[in-house]
Amino acid sequence: MKLLILDSPDEVASWSAKYVAKRINESKPSRDRYFVLGLPTGGTPLGMYRKLIELHKKGKVSFQYVVTFNMDEYVNLPKTHSQSYHYFMYDNFFKHIDIDPKNVHILDGTVSDLKSECSDYEKKIKQIGGFDLFIGGIGADGHIAFNEPGSSLVSRTRVKTLTDDTREANARFFDNDISQVPREALTVGVGTVMDAREVMILITGSHKAFALYKAIEEGVNHMWTISAFQLHPNTLMVCDEDATLELKVKTVKYFKNLNPHELINSDSNASIKS
Ligand code: F6R
Repeated sequence: MKLLILDSPDEVASWSAKYVAKRINESKPSRDRYFVLGLPTGGTPLGMYRKLIELHKKGKVSFQYVVTFNMDEYVNLPKTHSQSYHYFMYDNFFKHIDIDPKNVHILDGTVSDLKSECSDYEKKIKQIGGFDLFIGGIGADGHIAFNEPGSSLVSRTRVKTLTDDTREANARFFDNDISQVPREALTVGVGTVMDAREVMILITGSHKAFALYKAIEEGVNHMWTISAFQLHPNTLMVCDEDATLELKVKTVKYFKNLNPHELINSDSNASIKS
């Protein structure tokens, strides 16, 4: 696991967007070989989506041959609801880029057979050859996607009951009224994300500092599901200074002094230019 520490959330947004564009471009996707991207929702990746839209508008990246799978979706929230992840993704990202809607996959939490919805999702991911890059965020309790504390670290896509902590944190999107926040979600499993060839996790703010400490400095533990990525061969965490507040000075120093080439998984080692 590698950690890239940047000064601010804005830098995390710019850097991660340029990195995603670079990975797509380097893989030279075509109709015979699509680039497969896993995507999160939430407050953290919003800046990255804005910057990716800018890069797309400047002609620096195309999503014509990109297939996406979102991490999760609430159960029983209509797709047209302003807080559904379908709505979020179209509003904040997909409607601004050149992705073909048939290449967008988001779990449907409104179907009657949620179990089949989840197993079909896993089948589709397998059929396309798995993820080239999975981008994620984490909760203050260390959840990755909606794999709440105590989730199996080899879990696959399934229905999860949300914790009160997660519902409280997300109440800000539902008029600060926790009773409006759905109690369940469909989510990819920790194992689903672990199978990705590369994982990039975005973490910003002092409220995520304890989770980052648990992710990096303590052992693998299903009560902090993000810690599973210590066992992934190619995970990069991109964070801001505030998120490092609970880390040891020597941990921060070590990662700040890493050779930049070690941090960036690049076929060409070319610098990331906007
Ligand atoms: C979102 C997701 C969640 C969020 C996490 C952090 O698709 O799966 O794990 O990444 O709850 O959310 P924010 O970024 O709003 O703090």
